[in-house]
Amino acid sequence: MLDVQAAAANPPVIRREDYRKPDWLMPDVFLDFALDPARALVTGRLDVTRNGAHNRPLRLHGDGLVPLKVLIDGEAQADAWRMDGPDLVIDLPGDAHVVETQVAISPEANSQLMGLYASGGNLCSQCEPEGFRRMVFFLDRPDVLSRYRVRMDADKARFPVLLSNGDLTGSGDLEHGRHWAEWTDPFPKPSYLFALVAANLSANVDHFTTKSGREVKLAIWVVESDLPKTGHAMAALKASMAWDEKVYGLEYDLGEYNIVAVHDFNFGAMENKSLNIFNSRYILADPDTATDIDYDGVSGVVAHEYFHNWSGNRVTCRDWFQLSLKEGFTVFRDQCFTADQGSAAVKRIEDVRLLRAAQFQEDAGPLAHPIRPESYMEVSNFYTATVYNKGAEVVRMLHTMLGPQKFRAGSDLYFARHDGTAATCEDFVVAMEDASGVDLSQFRLWYSQAGTPRVRATLSHEPAGGRALLTLEQTVPPTPGQPEKKPMPLPLRIALFGERSQRKFEEERLVVLDGERCEILFEGIAERPVLSINRGFSAPVVIDSDRSAADLAFLSAHDDDPFARYEAMQQLMVDTLTGAVATGQADHGPVIDAVRNTLTDPKLDASFIGETMLLPSEAFIGDQMAVVDPVAIHKAREALRRDLGQALEGEWRDAYERTRANRFELSPQAKGARRLRSIALGFIMASGASDGPEIALRQFHDADNMTDRQGAFGALANSMAPERDAAIAAFYERFRDNGLVLDKWFSTQAFSIRPDTLDRVEELSQHPDFTLANPNRLRSLVGAMSGNQLIFHDASGRGYRFLADMLLKVDGLNPQTAAKLVPPLGRWRRFDEGRAGLMKAQLQRLLDTPGLSKDMFEQVSKSLG
Ligand code: ARG
Ligand code: ZN
Repeated sequence: MLDVQAAAANPPVIRREDYRKPDWLMPDVFLDFALDPARALVTGRLDVTRNGAHNRPLRLHGDGLVPLKVLIDGEAQADAWRMDGPDLVIDLPGDAHVVETQVAISPEANSQLMGLYASGGNLCSQCEPEGFRRMVFFLDRPDVLSRYRVRMDADKARFPVLLSNGDLTGSGDLEHGRHWAEWTDPFPKPSYLFALVAANLSANVDHFTTKSGREVKLAIWVVESDLPKTGHAMAALKASMAWDEKVYGLEYDLGEYNIVAVHDFNFGAMENKSLNIFNSRYILADPDTATDIDYDGVSGVVAHEYFHNWSGNRVTCRDWFQLSLKEGFTVFRDQCFTADQGSAAVKRIEDVRLLRAAQFQEDAGPLAHPIRPESYMEVSNFYTATVYNKGAEVVRMLHTMLGPQKFRAGSDLYFARHDGTAATCEDFVVAMEDASGVDLSQFRLWYSQAGTPRVRATLSHEPAGGRALLTLEQTVPPTPGQPEKKPMPLPLRIALFGERSQRKFEEERLVVLDGERCEILFEGIAERPVLSINRGFSAPVVIDSDRSAADLAFLSAHDDDPFARYEAMQQLMVDTLTGAVATGQADHGPVIDAVRNTLTDPKLDASFIGETMLLPSEAFIGDQMAVVDPVAIHKAREALRRDLGQALEGEWRDAYERTRANRFELSPQAKGARRLRSIALGFIMASGASDGPEIALRQFHDADNMTDRQGAFGALANSMAPERDAAIAAFYERFRDNGLVLDKWFSTQAFSIRPDTLDRVEELSQHPDFTLANPNRLRSLVGAMSGNQLIFHDASGRGYRFLADMLLKVDGLNPQTAAKLVPPLGRWRRFDEGRAGLMKAQLQRLLDTPGLSKDMFEQVSKSLG
C-alpha cells in the first residue's frame, strides 16, 4: 500500500530514447467478455511468441486488475507467475505459449471513462492510450499488433446490440435471456484500437461503394429518438470516404463501418478499427439544437476519425512519442477536407485562430514540448494542441515546400512502405525525402524543438534604383529543457504591393528562411511597397514587422490573399488595443475605417466579413504583452467595441437586415449570413443603443435555428439588461432535457463578462443539472470559466480557487479529464505578482494533496516549474 502511494506521488519518467523493441509478440488473441454493468468477467487467451533471443519473462500490463485465473498452455502453474505492481509477470520456458488470464471488472463503477465503462445505460470501451490494461492483462503497447477474435455475451433485452472491430463471425441466443456475438478483425492492430460496445441503440444505416467496388455498410448508432440528428454525420462520412480516395488514393478496407455515439466521453472521438466511438456532440446535429459551428465540428471530427483508418490504423505509431505521426497528419488531412468542402479561406482563418489560442500559449508556457516529446510521466497529458495542431502545421509546411505532387508521392511511399506496421515520425520524413529528393535534414528540427519561432521582417525601399530589400531574422525562444535553439527552416509566402497602384509586384515568392538572417532583393519596385508576409499562414510563427496602421489598413482592403487580408485587420486591431493598454490613449479611427471598408465591400462574402470583424480575444491581446493586465485589456477591447458599434451603427443595422433569412439552410452563404448577423447584433448591443437588448431578445425568440438563438443568447448573457434573465430562463425551459444544449446554457453563462459571473458560476456548480461525472458538462462550466480571462483572473483569486476546488473533486473520479483543465493556472509567469502568487498558491495546494493522480501530478508539478 505504501509503495503504491509513493509511486503515485512521484511517477517515473518515460523517455523516448529508452525505447526498446517488445520482448514478446502476440500475433493472435481471443477475448471473451461476459458482460454485466456491475461485474463483467473478461478472459484473454493470448498466443505469445518470444521476440528475439533473450530470457526475459513476459510482462503483461494491468491497471487495477486482480487475476482470477492464470493458465499457461492450459495449466495453472502458480509458481510461474507473480504480480509486480499493477503488472502480471510470467516466466515462460519456450518461444511460443498460450497464456490465458481472467479478471472481473465493474464497468458501472468506472468513473475514469477509460477501459470498459457505462454511459447512459450502455457499455463501451475507450482504450487509447492505455485503457486496454484496465480490462485484461495484455501487451498494451502500440508496437504489438495482433489479430483479434472477440466473443461477448450479455442480457439481450438490455443490450440488444453487441459490436466489436472487424466482421461479425457468429451470434446466437443463450439461456436466461442472454445472447452472444463474435467479431473477427482480419487486420492486425494494437490494443489501443480495440473497441467493444454492448448497447440498446438504433442505427442510421447507409452504404458506400469504394472506387474498386467494395460495398461498405455504414451504421451510426444512437438512441432511437436521436436518429433524426444523424444525417449530417452520415453525409460527412460518405464525403470523407470519397475525398480520401480522390485526394490520397486511399480506400476503405472492410465491409462495415460502425460509429457509436455516447454522452460520457473524455474527448472528441476515437478511431477504433471499423468501430469509432464518439462523444455525441460530434455526431448529433439538427437545426434546432446545433449551431453552424457544431455542424462543422461534426463533419470535421467524423472526417478525422475516418482518415485515421489509414493514417493511424493501417500505419500506426511505434510508441506514444510518435503520436503526432498519426495526429498531426490526420488533423492536416481533415483540415484540407473541410477546406475543400466549403470556404478554404475561412477554414484557414479558424484553424490559425485555434492554433494561436491553444498552441502558441502552450509553446510559451511551462508545458511547452516539441511535437515529438522527449519524455512524459502520463502520456494522456500529451494529447495536446502542440502534438495535434502544430503537428498539422508541420505536415502543411512539408506540403508547401514539396508542392502537392511530391507531397502525394511521399504519402504514397509512406503508406506503401509501412502498411501493417508501427512507424515513427522519422519514417514519415524519410518517405517524404525519398519520394521528393528534397533534403529534410534541417526540417527535422520541427520535430525536436519546442517554441514558436519569431521572425522580424524589415523592408526598405530605394526609389531611385527601384529596389526593395527585405531583411528577415529569426529567433526561437527558449523552452523548458531547451535553453538554446537552432534556426529552423521557415517557409514564408511573401508578396509586395504598390501603395499607389494598389497592385502586386511580380508573383508571390516562397522564401525558406533557414538561417538566423537573410536578405531578399526585389527589383522593379518603382513605388513604395507594402509587405504581405506569411500569406496563408505558411509557417506557424510570429511575425514582427513595423508596418504602420496605414499599411495594415491598405492590406486589409487590397491584399489578394484572403488570409493575409484577415491578418492585416487583426494586426491593426491588436496594435490599436495593445497601444491603448500601454498608454491609456486610443485612436480607434484607423480600425473603424478599415472595418467600414470590409463591411461594405460588395465583393466579399458574409462569412469572410464575419471572420474579419471578430476582435482579437482578450487572451490573445494578453499574449502580446509582457505582463497581462486582464482588466485593462477588457476595458480597451470594450471601448473599441463600443466605438465600432457607435461609429458604424448604420452599417451594422444594414448588415443585420440584409442577413435576415427566410428559411433555414446549411449552404456556406446561409452560414456566413448567420455568422455576420450575430456579430452585427453584438456591435449593435455594444453601441449602447437602447433597442439593443430588445432586438436580441426578438432574435432569441424568433430564431428557427440554434445559431441565431445562441448568437442572441450570447449577446444577452453579457448584458445587464433585464432581457438577459428572461433569455436564461427561456433557454433552460426549452432545452432542459437535451444535455448537449444544456452544456451551451452553462458555458454561455460562464463566458459572460458581467461582473457577477463568478457568483453565477459558483451557483451553477450547485445546479441540479451540473455533474462532475460528465466531461462535457464539466468543461462547459469549469473549462469555460477558466477560459474567460477577465473572470478567471479576478484579482481576488476566487477564479483560481474555484478551479482548484473543482480539480480536486474531479481528480478522484476522472484524472485524465481533470489534468486537461490545469494549464490556465500554469500561466502565472505571465501575470502581475499578486495574481501570480495566488495562482501558484492554488497549484501548490493541489500538489500538496495526498493521493494526487499521476496525470495531475505531472501537469501541476510542471506548471509550478
Ligand atoms: N485518437 C483520438 C483522436 O484524435 C483521440 C484520443 C484521445 N486520447 C486521449 N487520451 N486524450 O481521434
Ligand atoms: Zn486523431
